[in-house]
Amino acid sequence: MSTPPPLTPAAESPARAYDVLVIGSGIAGLSFALKVARQGRSVAILTKKNKADSNTNWAQGGIAVVTAQTDDFAKHVSDTLVAGDGLCDRKVVKQIVADGPQRVQELIDLGLKFSRDDDGTYDLGREGGHSERRILHVKDMTGKAIENALIKAIGREPRVALFEHFFAIDVVTTGKLAKTRARSRAHSATAAARADSTDRVAGVYALDVRDGRVVTFHAPVVMLSSGGAGQVYLYTTNPDIATGDGIAMAYRAGVEVRNMEFIQFHPTALYSLSGKRFLISEAVRGEGAILRNVEGEAFMARYHPQADLAPRDIVARAIDAEMKRTGSPHVWLDITHRNAAFLRSRFPLIYKACASEGIDIAVDKIPVVPAAHYTCGGVATTLAAETTLPGLYACGEVACTGLHGANRLASNSLLEAVVMAHRGAASVDAYLQRIQKTDAPAPVIPEWRDLGGGDQDERVVIAHNWDELRRTMWDYVSIQRTTKRLERARTRIATLSRETQEYYWNFSVDPRLLELRNLIQVAELIVACALQRKESRGLHSIAEYPKKLRRAEDTRIRRAG
Ligand code: SIN
Repeated sequence: MSTPPPLTPAAESPARAYDVLVIGSGIAGLSFALKVARQGRSVAILTKKNKADSNTNWAQGGIAVVTAQTDDFAKHVSDTLVAGDGLCDRKVVKQIVADGPQRVQELIDLGLKFSRDDDGTYDLGREGGHSERRILHVKDMTGKAIENALIKAIGREPRVALFEHFFAIDVVTTGKLAKTRARSRAHSATAAARADSTDRVAGVYALDVRDGRVVTFHAPVVMLSSGGAGQVYLYTTNPDIATGDGIAMAYRAGVEVRNMEFIQFHPTALYSLSGKRFLISEAVRGEGAILRNVEGEAFMARYHPQADLAPRDIVARAIDAEMKRTGSPHVWLDITHRNAAFLRSRFPLIYKACASEGIDIAVDKIPVVPAAHYTCGGVATTLAAETTLPGLYACGEVACTGLHGANRLASNSLLEAVVMAHRGAASVDAYLQRIQKTDAPAPVIPEWRDLGGGDQDERVVIAHNWDELRRTMWDYVSIQRTTKRLERARTRIATLSRETQEYYWNFSVDPRLLELRNLIQVAELIVACALQRKESRGLHSIAEYPKKLRRAEDTRIRRAG
């Protein structure tokens, strides 16, 4: 393949100039980086912790894809549409489902070994909402296996530079640069507005976490693949890194964000007094586990014909209702009818995690509760992973393509990530070729100004606001909503936002402050979208509007000016 020359911008620090910046190192970011590097582009991956710290690494279930003789695309499409409760984009669903087998084959080509039965065929898992067994998995550690395969492949790719412990703060755009210049020269508002009309990506400011300095990365393309925002809730199955950074950055860059009210609560997280919520994969119910209330009743048949394998929103709400009705802090998940050898081999991670809490899942019922799990909305993108800002792309959980609608079908997220990484790589290539032809000079980005210092004693504000935000979201913006609770949350979050912004401008930035700023932004978006939706649909259930509207519409939100 011929290699185009790199589009190195005229920057003060050419060493930090790339064709493409990728924010995040999960399945979406790594798959995308690999593909654009193979197109001959120079790529920097920025990850705020270690390269393997990603949501992907925690994914247990697997990747939903049509492989079995008994299955077909139409069934997978239909299951996705049913789970999405009328809000999926049918065209997007069809395309992503159809692209799946080819993209999954590429993972296999990288060396990924999905679990097989004794006869050598794939051991296909089943999860809620799926009418067929179609989940390819590596025991209950699918995400980790995919992450390892991709990290190995990236390590062999000389065009990719991986920056661990670099926290992307904000996307720099030509519009923002022009506005700043116009303001500093006291230009008219019309000049600033004119500058805005050609807005495109110029790079990113990022905190080098280890030395505390903010550095500038220059690139005409930024791919956001930083995952979801589970940490906005007190109880979540997500890792600590899931603080909605990409969604907040995109919103601050003036990009459209969509359907943020649809937060998926996983029905079965291990109930523990520590407050940590370890995921008990839906695949356990796929292998026959039954949900029981504290009275011992297998209650799910009262709520849905698919009982324990009903779509996730229904199961989570049913558990919430049973806990409220009985006053119990959890329900039980019962897989004691399967033997220990099977459970240890099929679910080694879950078996071990439960054992460490003194639970032998072959003998004991598992105490489970719902916990925030997946952000179905996010940065609005096309099927080419483009956002509304030229040069800014998004894929994976950070994005909202239209695949998930009002409720994601289990194990569709890894599928979406690999498919959209591939499609994004193709459209980025075309974009870079286009701008290469224009010969426009690359924008010069001023160095970050640290107004810094500040009173270190006041850092307690950050810890306090983290706790208050997550508690507020859990208590007022959770599985079952009311307008009054949402309004109460909005007021509280506005106060937290004011205090945190003040802090942001007066103190040197650090990761906890940056994460808090992003979480607050995401919380505001969730509440704003939830208040916009005057109906109950999918994951959004609100007392005042119990019915679905006839016409399903996305909620869209974009920062003014
Ligand atoms: C699970 O294993 O239950 C989670 C899989 C997913 O969220 O898609």
